Formats: sequence, C-alpha cells, structure tokens
Amino acid sequence: MRLFVATAAVNRQKSGCAIVGLHEGGSFSGAAAQLDEALGGRLTRLAKRGDVRGKAGEVKILDTDGAHCERVLVVGLGKKGSFGRKQYRKALVSALGAIAKTGARDAVSYLGEVVEPADAYYSARLAAEALGAALYRVPAIRSARKPPEPALKSFGFAADASQKSQAQRGLDHGQAIAAGTALTRDLANLPGNVCTPTYLAQQARELARSYSTVRTQVLEERDLKRLKMGSFLSVTNGTDEPAKLIVMRYDGGRAGQAPVALVGKGVTFDSGGISLKQPPGMDEMKFDMTGAASVFGAIKAAAEMGLKLNLVGVVPACENMPGARATKPGDIVRSMSGQTIEVINTDAEGRLILCDALTYARRFKPATVIDIATLTGACVIALGAHNSAVMSNDDELAGELVAAGRRAEDRCWHMPMGEEYHDQLKSNFADFANACGRDGGAITAACFLAKFTDGLRWAHVDIAGTAYLTGSQKGSTGRPVALLMDFLIGRA
Ligand code: BES
Ligand code: MN
Ligand code: ZN
Repeated sequence: MRLFVATAAVNRQKSGCAIVGLHEGGSFSGAAAQLDEALGGRLTRLAKRGDVRGKAGEVKILDTDGAHCERVLVVGLGKKGSFGRKQYRKALVSALGAIAKTGARDAVSYLGEVVEPADAYYSARLAAEALGAALYRVPAIRSARKPPEPALKSFGFAADASQKSQAQRGLDHGQAIAAGTALTRDLANLPGNVCTPTYLAQQARELARSYSTVRTQVLEERDLKRLKMGSFLSVTNGTDEPAKLIVMRYDGGRAGQAPVALVGKGVTFDSGGISLKQPPGMDEMKFDMTGAASVFGAIKAAAEMGLKLNLVGVVPACENMPGARATKPGDIVRSMSGQTIEVINTDAEGRLILCDALTYARRFKPATVIDIATLTGACVIALGAHNSAVMSNDDELAGELVAAGRRAEDRCWHMPMGEEYHDQLKSNFADFANACGRDGGAITAACFLAKFTDGLRWAHVDIAGTAYLTGSQKGSTGRPVALLMDFLIGRA
C-alpha cells in the first residue's frame, strides 16, 4: 500500500474516490463544499433529497464518472463539534471498508481538516491506522475460497502544503503501528492448537529474520529450571506443550542506552488448570496470550518505523492445563526472586508466569518496565471493553501512559494500589498467596506483581477487557499496540 500526503486542492486531485464529510443538519466540510461546486452542486442535491443526512457512521458512495475523482464517498460527521479522534477513526474505518468493496484503486481522505483537536500528525497517523483496520482480515481457517483482495493500492491524506512533513511522519508511523497491530491480531486470533509457545518462539525468530535491528533468544524449560523460575514452571506442569521464555531485543537507540522492557503474558490457552474454568466462553482463553502478542506487535512497529530507542520484549509463554502433574491448589512454589507463593487458585496463573519474567527483565537494567496482560476478570467488571487498567509504582509513569492512551485513542485508566490491598494476599504458609477474595481483583493482581518490582520503574497494563471483542464481533482488537507505540514515540 502506498500512502502519501495529497496537497492539491480537492477539485484538482485525481483519485478513485474522494472521502469528504457532511455534518448532521446539512453543512458540508470545507473540502466537501469545494467538491460540490466542482460537481455542479451534486452533493447539495443529494443532501436536499435526504439521501445523506450526516449521521455519524453513515457512508454513501456516489459515482462521479467523468469527474477528476471517479467516486465520492460522503461520510456522516455527526453533530458539529463532536468529531473527535474516536469518531474520526470510526468514520474512516467504515469509509475505507466500503471503498475496499469497490474497484477503486486509490482514495484520498479530506477528513483531516474536520478532526478536533486539529493536528496533522495525529490525523494522518490515525488515518493510516484506520486503513490497516479496514483492510484487516482474520486468519480464518476455512475450507471455502478466500474473498477477493481489495483493489485499493494507494491512499492519500489531504493536508495543507505547510503541514506536509508532519502529515508524512504521521502516515509513516501509522503504517508501522498498523503493521504491528495486524501482527498482534493475527497471533491472538489464531487458535490455541496452532499458536502454541513453540509457534510464538518461531514468530519471534521470524521477526529477527525480517529486521536487522531485532534479535531473538528463546529459553527452554531446562534453562528456566537453571534460572530457578519455579513460579513460571509451576503453571506449565499440567501440559505436554513445552513452555518458552522468548526474549526479543530491538536496538534503535544509542548503544548502551537503558532499554524499555515490555513483558507480555503469553498463556496460549488458559483452561484454569485444576481450578478449572466454566465451559461458557472458555474458547476465548486462546486470547490469553494477547499481552505477549502486543509485545510482538510493538517490536514490529518499532522496527518498521526505525524508532530511536532500545527495547526488550520478554514473553513467558505456556499453556495452563489440568493434568496428573498439574500444580494443585495449596501447592507452594518458589519464584526466581526467592519469594515463595502459595497457589490458592491455579487460574491465577498470569501473575505466576509474569513475576519470574519481571525478575528476569532486571538483567537488562531497564529504564522502565511495562507488563501487559489479560490478567483479571475483575478488570473487565471494573472498566469494561473501553479502557485498559494501569497500575504503577510511579504515578508519573502511569500519567504518561494515560496521556498516551488519550492521544492514540487507545485509552487506559489509572487505578490505585496500596498496603490494604497487599494485605489481602497474606498467606499462613508462604510469603504470600497468588489469589484472594474477589474484591478489588484487578488491583490485588497488580499488587502481587508489585512484589517483584522493587527498585524498578514499573507499570502494569491489564487488557483483559480491551484485548478482544466477544459475541458476533469475536476477535482480537490489537490493543494496546497503539497506546504502547505512542508512549514509546514520546520517549524516543
Ligand atoms: N486469563 C484470566 C483473566 C481473564 C478473565 C481474561 C476474563 C479475560 C477475560 C486469568 O488468568 C484469570 O483466570 N484470572 C482469575 C484470577 C482469580 C482466580 C484470582 C480471574 O480473574 O477470575
Ligand atoms: Mn487464569
Ligand atoms: Zn489467564
């Protein structure tokens, strides 16, 4: 796909489709009004007849054969003053989705001028991300033939000539983020019998093959034993599928510059183990490696855009299954940090693999450590599918992530931690327990991880509610790759 900044006026720019906006109540955006004039008032007549009303989400393609643009797509912008980044991205995803069904080979969007707040970089970046979302196809494993490839080969983002360089930078970043997001979605959407820890390790090696800036190292179970990762290993006891600790390094910054470490939960299937889950929705636990997938996506996006920063991705990958050798409730395990853990509930496995991965990440002397995990059902109850949760031992870091989420339109919300929550994890038999009562479940999970982060600048992002959609829309969202990339771009 070719992405470019279109600086020509709308009545001069040749394209397969011009994307313009109409506000509810009938006022056209600047570019739409100009185009309307060039087309002899066709858009006005369309609006007068009531064929387009400007309702948010509405899209209408009209054939303008003979004009400089072969088609015009009018997208509803909703009420004036309500067209923010969220509405903009949604509008572009629907518009580009509709265009991809036509024979149009190229399209130019004139919606950048309507977004509030106005910002050529973000409008261009979000447009490129929307294009990726509109063209994304799940890796479906079907016997029937695949649907035809869209004809769309090139996309223009219209901007004033004075904004050209910011817009181009936005398109480049957006294209890189879209590529990372697509990788995350692909990995997460694959079934558990395909996307195993071994498969993830192969994908990490694949990243190293594709980018000279990426190196991969895979640690096997015998290495994990040598490292005394008793907590991580306790989760994989019930399965024959070998666990892996996948380490990916992206070097885009100065040599010797402290990296940002991204630690992603890679449970390729979470049955709950001996504390077995209920059957309804259990298939969705194939998405329990989305934290890991988002680390892969961030590394890919960083490599694609040549981000000037060093990154380390640490991914503990395993299955959580019941079995004759599986860890039992009441078992006590010793983590790599030396701290002992009473496994009250084998379904609280994410924290058990992450704590050893966090300890392992120390060897990279990271400036910041961010772990990403589909960690708790309680997080879904607290924030639903719209915000990820952020907990941190550093309020400033949490604030940076919240701000990045707002800018990237991939939001997260800062939740508290504290001594009272830590107390809930007390154990009579070990240093602490891996699970406790349901109250404040997202927070107590974060507190568990915090016990392994002394002296680190650390944040935890719980994506249990945001990583994937359920129901008829079931599938990975690719979140929080855009959030992570915005944070990292801000750091570089
Ligand atoms: N992977 C789940 C969390 C989850 C639940 C993600 C729903 C997405 C949707 C995690 O391993 C888990 O089972 N957590 C338990 C912890 C509890 C036993 C303390 C939970 O949230 O119920
Ligand atoms: Mn679980
Ligand atoms: Zn889990």
